Amino acid sequence: MRAYKTKMVERIELPDREERAANLEAAGYNVFNLDADDVYVDLLTDSGTGAMSDEQWAALLRGDEAYAGSESFRELEAAVGDVMGFENVVPAHQGRGAENVLYGALVGEGDAVLNNTHFDTTRAHVANQGAEAVDCPVEGAHDPDAEGDFKGDFSVERAREHVDRVGAENVPVVVLTITNNSAAGQPVSVETTREVAAFADDIDATFVIDACRFAENAYFVREREPGYGDTSIAEIAREQLGYADALVMSGKKEGLVNAGGFVAVEDDDLFERAKQRAILYEGFPTYGGMAGRDLAAMAVGLREAVDLGRVRDRVEQVRDLGDRLRDAGIPVYWPPGGHAVYVDAGKLLPDVPTGQFPGQALVCELYREGGVRAVELGEFAFPGADRPDLVRLALPRRTYGREHVEHVVETLAAVQDRADAVAGLEVVDEPEMAELRHFSARLRPV
Ligand code: F0G
Repeated sequence: MRAYKTKMVERIELPDREERAANLEAAGYNVFNLDADDVYVDLLTDSGTGAMSDEQWAALLRGDEAYAGSESFRELEAAVGDVMGFENVVPAHQGRGAENVLYGALVGEGDAVLNNTHFDTTRAHVANQGAEAVDCPVEGAHDPDAEGDFKGDFSVERAREHVDRVGAENVPVVVLTITNNSAAGQPVSVETTREVAAFADDIDATFVIDACRFAENAYFVREREPGYGDTSIAEIAREQLGYADALVMSGKKEGLVNAGGFVAVEDDDLFERAKQRAILYEGFPTYGGMAGRDLAAMAVGLREAVDLGRVRDRVEQVRDLGDRLRDAGIPVYWPPGGHAVYVDAGKLLPDVPTGQFPGQALVCELYREGGVRAVELGEFAFPGADRPDLVRLALPRRTYGREHVEHVVETLAAVQDRADAVAGLEVVDEPEMAELRHFSARLRPV
């Protein structure tokens, strides 16, 4: 049962078929180049694209824009303390700003950082410090068909092997990303969190949780982990985050805002160092690149994030999309994650070879067929990575309804029906940095 009703609406329109084909061509077969107005259902990302509540809009109007000592910052501090259990907060303009502040204070040249799976920006910030980003996913994390309740978990065994190779003194940070965005949004158990905390303690590393989607993760714990069925989302979140020494947060996810982020730490010395970096890169530590009104809205958003009705609607809507796609015979990563359903494009378009980007071809066909925008996370985005060609359908929070979900399923089914007629793509123009190619490269049908 839905835990909210609509109070404000935005008109959307499905351009006709000829227009969609022309838009696709003009965008160089890269949906990042489309105008959002030309998109009917936008599943590009769940980051900063959700709807705020009436309480958040009210807080926005009361935002305190003082440069130093803003009341809105105090509200954020209080919310992070109450919801996440951390007292020392350094705001940042978004998650990657927080990563720059935190990892710059903790990681140095030649170090290694261990993570269940690094999200792209995390990997880039680790590399930017001259360090190596090492993934320690569990068996099956990248297998769309493997069974598992917590396929996002961290393999302490793999992590220990790496520490044995490089020496504990070269591993200053261990990160747990909850949920694990780069492993199909799969959750991490509290039990694993405890083990990772003990492991980090053992090798004298700082234990960081990337908490972007912490409440979705808590919902899965409540559903799947023995002993948590009657525990509130708020309590699970407090317990799980409580094992960490520091948090890095993109408020654009479960801060339920359109912009913002922060670092939260336990240690006073690290707090000082983080604040100094924040002054350099983000802004004075009581605003950190955010407007006061956005701090105020994020403070309210964090409290709403752990509301059971809110998070149940959210995760169950994603699951509903996954169920409907599977029922329609679409190959999807199973089980669905907390924020997105991942379609196995290699299987859906078996005639398109990996070198011709089946994922990107599917993304283009979803737009051509139904004005749906998704994102490729396969050979086009991660050249040479040995991963299945997945396409992510990320649902913005509190935004779309069942009709939109049905439209997405019908669109995928229609593309699957004419799969043998879908052409592969080739790159005609790409930026210098291969890691960033999927944001701006231009392609054409082969
Ligand atoms: N960490 C994780 C796990 C993320 O998913 C993201 C962003 C970030 C850090 C960086 O946060 O965007 O506020 O700078 N993920 C978005 C996505 C972009 O579409 O998955 P940011």
